[in-house]
Amino acid sequence: MSPRSLHLNVFLFACGHHRAAWRAPDSSVDQLGDIRYYEAIAQTAERGKLDAIFLADGHSAEHLEDGPRWFLEPLTTLTAIARATERIGLIGTVSSTFYSPFHAARLLASLDHISHGRLGWNVVTSMFDAEARNHGYAAMPDHAQRYARAEEFVTVAKALWDSWEADALLGDRAGRYADPGRVHAIHHHGDFFRVDGPLTVPRPPQGRPVLFQAGASPQGRDFAARHAEAIYAVAHDLPAAQAYYQDIQRRVGAAGRADTVPIMPGLVTYVAAGQAEARAKQQALDALLPVAASLRQLESFIFQDCGDWPLDEAVPPLPALADFPGPKGRYATILRIIETEQPTVRQLLGRLAAGGGHCTVVGTPDQIADHIEHWFVQRGADGFNLMPPSLPHSLDDFIEQVVPILQRRGLFRREYRGRTLRSHLGLDE
Ligand SMILES: Cc1cc2nc3c(=O)[nH]c(=O)nc-3n(C[C@H](O)[C@H](O)[C@H](O)COP(=O)(O)O)c2cc1C
Repeated sequence: MSPRSLHLNVFLFACGHHRAAWRAPDSSVDQLGDIRYYEAIAQTAERGKLDAIFLADGHSAEHLEDGPRWFLEPLTTLTAIARATERIGLIGTVSSTFYSPFHAARLLASLDHISHGRLGWNVVTSMFDAEARNHGYAAMPDHAQRYARAEEFVTVAKALWDSWEADALLGDRAGRYADPGRVHAIHHHGDFFRVDGPLTVPRPPQGRPVLFQAGASPQGRDFAARHAEAIYAVAHDLPAAQAYYQDIQRRVGAAGRADTVPIMPGLVTYVAAGQAEARAKQQALDALLPVAASLRQLESFIFQDCGDWPLDEAVPPLPALADFPGPKGRYATILRIIETEQPTVRQLLGRLAAGGGHCTVVGTPDQIADHIEHWFVQRGADGFNLMPPSLPHSLDDFIEQVVPILQRRGLFRREYRGRTLRSHLGLDE
């Protein structure tokens, strides 16, 4: 059995994952419409030999005064990044609730061709009613319905990618462009979609783009266990990460799969040569955080009004996970932070300010590397989805100071071995 290898992915988000990052004097707030900003970040990540960069997506423009969220559409952005980089994987979110599978499969297959086999697809079921109202719904379809649609969506997308056999494209100038006997209709008639196929785009270089998933509810985990080839997780401490890791392994086994599915929890890092300096970086961002905006963020996570909660008192009791109607993953994390840390409302806001409850480590490069190694060895993670609180600064710190330590310890690659995202992730090609 080959040794496990560590995977590192960076999650690009606006000026960084800290809610107040855009307000810092040296923030990138004036560059968010400039593709060179994203290209430069991707080039930094590629210099650090990271597995991939990831762009999330949402379909509503709300709370605009609180700071930037979405600007450029992710697949368009990744197309440009594909041309500005050579090896790093490119992962983008496409919602199974708002797209049609033909449209999604076509876009993703095209981008896998454009990037020469570096594409990953983060399949999400989406979350918010404001998004649904941009796509012909009055509100989000209920959770079970969203996952039922996602199941059919992914099944159709895979069938469309498979509709061209590997050697179907002939390009024979004597008169045969493709072999129609090796390009197949799919004739899908399901509950949500009717798709004849085949796809217009010949088979993508990776066969299929790599499928990522991040659902945390039981339905989300089962869906991931059936389809995901890599998983983004939320875990604020090692026991939570280990519990999630074991649960996913069990579900992958129960789904009859023998493959390994790398699990990558989010990781927010503040890195500096000394602990005090690293803390100062965090405090400088926290000090820019407007309380009203943070309370609104919390409200969007817990689906209740908390505008009148006293900031310096304990967080009031929240409904149990089973009774919560919204996205369960983040909610479960918030319940766990409250249970284990018993924060005041103000402390909880600070904790959620960067990454919304993902693990946060503040320290020296060695301390960050220790943390990564510990979670990796203790099987809380196969790698991490880095969520830099400020971009590009926190990523620069990580690539320059932490990656060399991980490389020296033999935990992380010094060079890319292959050219595709599948190869970086150690997946079958
Ligand atoms: C790292 C990470 C990235 C995510 N990216 C997106 C995204 O881009 N768009 C989105 O709508 N949901 C995103 N989500 C949310 C989930 O994929 C999922 O749709 C949501 O948690 C609801 O499913 P659940 O109830 O199974 O948790 C992300 C979650 C995590 C942890």
